[in-house]
Amino acid sequence: WANSEDSDMSTMEASLSLTPDFILPVERRPNLAEVSKLGDNVPIIDMGTGDADGLVEEIARACEMYGLFLIKNHGVPQELCESMLAGVTDLFHLPPKVKALLVSDDPTKDVRICNHYRKAEEKGDSKAKRFSMWSEVFKHPWHPSDQSFADLLPSDPPNYRKIVTTYAKEIGILMSRLFNLMSQGLGLEGDVLQNRLGKNPLCRVQANYYPPCSNPDLTLGLGVHTDRDALTVVLPTPNVEGLQIMKDDRWMIVDPVPNALVVNIGDQLQVLSNGKYKSVLHRVVTNECQSRVSLAMFYGPDKDALIGPIENLIDDQHPQVYRNYYFSEFLEVYRKQEGKNRKIKEFFE
Ligand code: SIN
Ligand code: FE2
Repeated sequence: WANSEDSDMSTMEASLSLTPDFILPVERRPNLAEVSKLGDNVPIIDMGTGDADGLVEEIARACEMYGLFLIKNHGVPQELCESMLAGVTDLFHLPPKVKALLVSDDPTKDVRICNHYRKAEEKGDSKAKRFSMWSEVFKHPWHPSDQSFADLLPSDPPNYRKIVTTYAKEIGILMSRLFNLMSQGLGLEGDVLQNRLGKNPLCRVQANYYPPCSNPDLTLGLGVHTDRDALTVVLPTPNVEGLQIMKDDRWMIVDPVPNALVVNIGDQLQVLSNGKYKSVLHRVVTNECQSRVSLAMFYGPDKDALIGPIENLIDDQHPQVYRNYYFSEFLEVYRKQEGKNRKIKEFFE
């Protein structure tokens, strides 16, 4: 489908050009020539291994050193992942008139498409502080066990609701397993981390669509950010590069591996682990030839959950790094911040 000759798609992409809104100031450009292809890559962890202790250790190390890793043999059926990506692609290929019904800039709307191209045209002002990203995103809620979120979703494309509810159930199971392993990796009982996030977790989906871009050096698909929730699992287009993480003050390419999912530590896990697990800075770069889609599933705390370093992780050698707060407080501060480049330390200063 990435190469399909869909007419809506070609019309949309043909009309896209690098207007001033997309062109980042020099210091915020991706500087692609500086990003090395050689050397380090993020860990690729086999979740199908029989070595339970080895797996705990491998995951803990990846959470500490990188904050992001790939998993294979993760248990989510390959066919389902393919249908999910096809569903996301269909959604972004809906006829413009149908898609327009979903487009909204209103952040209080739970289900919406943020269409940056449209925004760029409307703003038309190169002095605007916020730059448009070379992407379109579709946001909606999800839940690991309660499928009623599907009622909020559009009936077009026809299979989207069904696929995303099936996929959500699988990701819920996978995330519980990851939380368990990450909890053990901190020397805690397996259920501690997920329990701390509360009974009614705030779970969000963000589907991203990045069209080809005539000059990837001037813009970004997604700006530099850390994920605000506890844990993210991303399903990316296989074989198309885009995601990069900051490692030792340098940008590093996350090589796409077929059938692998991307696991990403969010801000709340960094806090719960008293800074041991890293909520990594990441960004998405564009390319000239191929479009790319990805589906990020975020698992956040209950808004009433009390978040703070877990007591067992604090001692003389490891003083408490963050204060305790209700997740609703964090959200309030987070939502007030205009830019996308929000770092956790800003909340605690
Ligand atoms: C992200 O969710 O921050 C990036 C996902 C992607 O790889 O496109
Ligand atoms: Fe992200």
